Amino acid sequence: MAGRERNQTDMDKGIVIPDDWPGYPLDLFTSPEHYCEDLECVYIPHGVIMDRTERLARNIMDDLGDHDIVVLCVLKGGYQFCADLVDCIKVLCRHSNKTLPMRVDFIRLKSYLNDQSTEDLHIEGAENLSVLSGKAIVDTGKTMKTLLDHVEAFSPKMIKVAGLLVKRVPSGTGYLPDYVGFEIPNRFVVGYALDYNEYFRDLNHICVISDRGKQKYKI
Ligand code: HPA
Ligand code: MG
Repeated sequence: MAGRERNQTDMDKGIVIPDDWPGYPLDLFTSPEHYCEDLECVYIPHGVIMDRTERLARNIMDDLGDHDIVVLCVLKGGYQFCADLVDCIKVLCRHSNKTLPMRVDFIRLKSYLNDQSTEDLHIEGAENLSVLSGKAIVDTGKTMKTLLDHVEAFSPKMIKVAGLLVKRVPSGTGYLPDYVGFEIPNRFVVGYALDYNEYFRDLNHICVISDRGKQKYKI
């Protein structure tokens, strides 16, 4: 049943999605009617996200099983990933002798307008931390560095970061979260709480937006 045992040098870079991955045709899955013309393909189906999250939860349990932790959910895009990750950890606890007391806190980051990164970063609200941070996307790593600087100011005992998606971007800082769901090409994706100008958070799968979708929801 079990996968490989993990150790410090055995960094798990996540499931690597190659540059030429076309995604799945939309009509092989269901998605909300109101987005039917706005998406190009299903890039990562919801079930695959859940299966991978379950494994990340197990890795986290193996590493942190004896600590009290604060899960710091990075809003808004990370809310679904964090909620599912916490749920998976709870299920694992229920089915094992381990226990992992968790508090959940929230921090809000916003650095995107349309599909472009902006320099303007807002951080709101985070206190009393000892932290597992859950973020949906890590691309250049700059936002993550700002977040870590911010969190470190609270002198937590330990900081671990779980990122659902890491993008292969040319301008990347090389920063890698401790737990990575998927490594993906440098494409703009939506769904599973990831937005394009606040739309598409209500989509279960991670999808690629169509040109029409970009035009329709452009600010
Ligand atoms: N989609 C949504 N939000 C994002 C992305 C993305 O691909 N990259 C950084 N923020
Ligand atoms: Mg966003």
